[in-house]
Amino acid sequence: MDEGLLQQGTELSQIPTYVTAVPNGTEKGLYMAVDLGGTNFRVCSIQLHGNTTFSLTQSKVAIPKELMVAKTSKELFSFLAKQIETFLKTHHEEHYTGHIRRRETGGAVKEEEIFNLGFTFSFPVNQIGINKGLLMRWTKGFDIADAVGKDVCALLQTEIDALGLPVRVAALVNDTVGTLMARSYTSPGKTGTLLGAIFGTGTNGAYVEKLDKVTKLTKSKDSGDYDKSTGEMIVNTEWGSFDNSLRTLPNTPYDIELDEKSVNPGIQMFEKRVSGMFLGEILRLAIIGLLKDPTFPLFRDENSAQNDIHSTTQIYDNSPIYKQWGIDTSFLSICAGDTSPGHRMVRQTLDKDYGITAVSAEDAEAVRAIAAAIGRRAARLAAVAIAGIVINTGRLDAAKGTATTEQKAGIDPPRGDADLAEEDVIDVGVDGSLVEFYPNFEDHIREALREIEGIGAKGEKRIRIGIAKDGSGVGAALIALVAGRVAVDTE
Ligand code: BGC
Repeated sequence: MDEGLLQQGTELSQIPTYVTAVPNGTEKGLYMAVDLGGTNFRVCSIQLHGNTTFSLTQSKVAIPKELMVAKTSKELFSFLAKQIETFLKTHHEEHYTGHIRRRETGGAVKEEEIFNLGFTFSFPVNQIGINKGLLMRWTKGFDIADAVGKDVCALLQTEIDALGLPVRVAALVNDTVGTLMARSYTSPGKTGTLLGAIFGTGTNGAYVEKLDKVTKLTKSKDSGDYDKSTGEMIVNTEWGSFDNSLRTLPNTPYDIELDEKSVNPGIQMFEKRVSGMFLGEILRLAIIGLLKDPTFPLFRDENSAQNDIHSTTQIYDNSPIYKQWGIDTSFLSICAGDTSPGHRMVRQTLDKDYGITAVSAEDAEAVRAIAAAIGRRAARLAAVAIAGIVINTGRLDAAKGTATTEQKAGIDPPRGDADLAEEDVIDVGVDGSLVEFYPNFEDHIREALREIEGIGAKGEKRIRIGIAKDGSGVGAALIALVAGRVAVDTE
């Protein structure tokens, strides 16, 4: 972490985000946000009520696969601008038609007519201003060569302008930063949130760092403008690339094969063990590995008598388990959630979705065991990332709390923070399909936190983890709010 704050080009990118404060829930106004994540593109407008609550209107489309690997970035960004246009026509029709009419009749465009938009762009971007950032690399299966090195805000603004929409891209926001902002706006109590983390299609975290530690920004001559008064800056770690050189990450034959066949071999090595895009594929490769091993009896009943449902297991030739990405990570959640005798859900899903029929209870149990190991490993690695930030920011020492390192796992301390003084709480906002849908993901994280030297059982209790649902929408709006103020003040 420290190395990344000093210099460029490190495994943990530690990107300064130009966001220097977290909100406190009193912010107000109507803003827009768009979110290009891994799987979907969301457009929303957010009314902040100023009392920690907000109303959100949104539309969501799946990003067409061919646009993720389009020949030119224009294809992707013009598609995004079109979605913004459709959203405005549907949900802010008066505003939209009023603006278009005035433009057509040569009327002046009023400042208050322009929506400030927060652009959540969930890929590593070298940020050089609040609404300026150059794409470093694609992740999560995207691959559009000509966008790398370009300012993604300018790419979007160009397409918005081509459609004549009343929208200014006011802020560029990583989804983790949005999650941090949203959690800070909505979380109980006055304590600001320390960390926003995503465990979804990809994984990453952004946290509040002391500005004077971010020397690669403060000592650089060509850094853009930012507010220095808070003494803090939110830093986007890009922890998905932690330990790309594999000094310490676990590395199984399935991890190796997954990486070799990915669009970005050798990078995002932490992400490839933790996030939703990859866990299903690790399971698939493990199952295929077992099927290739003649000594292993998985799905290989010789006759129906060997199978508790008296029918021989069969794998169809066109089963998705033979295709890359064929198993969805949601199947791991099904496995973890199915504690029924004989694992009916697991067997049904293997039959209906994966073309493997008449699976025995024993085989279903084997699949469950592998899936559970993959899910648990992901959660435990997630805990490492969270713990790294808690420890390195010195938050455990800062407050009154008396966390010690000698407390180890074994005891199951009560969850939650009911007895904690407000200043002892270390607040973490999380979002993403894994934390939301993988059963007990947080419990696995907590179990590992207790075992980590420097956190221990007491430290773990002080860490409050809360879902910041739709964080990237409202968080981006909050940043657009601050950025919009600055833009108007300086115009
Ligand atoms: C990206 C991050 C993003 C994370 C979660 C990763 O692949 O590099 O920028 O925050 O996914 O969406």
